[in-house]
Amino acid sequence: MSWSTIFFICMALMLSTQTADGYKNSRLTHCVFSSNYLHDAEYIDSYVFNKVENIRFNSTVGHFVGYTEIGIKNAEAWNKGPELAQEKTRLEGYCKHNAAIFYSNILDKHVKPSVRLSSGSPSSGRHHAMLVCRAYDYYPKQIKVTWMRDGQEVTSDVTSTEELVDGDWYYQIHSQLEYTPKSGEKISCMVEHASLDKPIEEHWDPSLPESEKSKIAIGASGLVLGLVLTLAGLIYYQRKKSNGRTLVPSG
Ligand SMILES: *[C@@H]1O[C@H](CO)[C@@H](O)[C@H](O)[C@H]1NC(C)=O
Repeated sequence: MSWSTIFFICMALMLSTQTADGYKNSRLTHCVFSSNYLHDAEYIDSYVFNKVENIRFNSTVGHFVGYTEIGIKNAEAWNKGPELAQEKTRLEGYCKHNAAIFYSNILDKHVKPSVRLSSGSPSSGRHHAMLVCRAYDYYPKQIKVTWMRDGQEVTSDVTSTEELVDGDWYYQIHSQLEYTPKSGEKISCMVEHASLDKPIEEHWDPSLPESEKSKIAIGASGLVLGLVLTLAGLIYYQRKKSNGRTLVPSG
């Protein structure tokens, strides 16, 4: 499924460039492929003078084709000469060879997303609550984020960004669900991706948001510390009192 994307690896070989007087003669080789089996790989070699393509070799066609008067003349000659035999080796030797390197080093790699679920403020006003599910730093691009409510997929009041390009081959996506909370319900965000054996499911804990929990935790720690100190003080006081009693001689 992820291989449906066609990757254009355009390696522009500017074999001869003369710009000083406004002329530009260029040769562009392309390798176009969409599957790691490389059965559909196509090698294209274009000869362009001042933006006009004169000749093209297309590996699927199998010979040079001229598009201008000079191009047609040259294509005819090259199709009879050693140029054609050389060009025919390039699909395997250049195109598929490099495509395989791209697949093994990048395109076939899978990197797991890290998923975070948090609450936010609803924007529409139709609902009281909003959850945001974010998946970060994954590869490849294709991903599926779904919201589950009591085991059922939720599709209404869900908005999502596209898969956002991080610029370092990784992607991120943000999906939000606006909803009206019901007591006892179970809400989760489920992320499916090629890097995962089974989906990542993050369950929402509706009890209290993290910030509130940490406030309570700080308060509780303070209370415990206070009690410990009070107890210590009390024991100290008791012992001092009883020690004092024995030290004071009677009579
Ligand atoms: C190469 O030739 C094939 C077969 O005619 C064609 O389908 C394809 O579009 C051509 N590719 C380019 C870039 O010209």
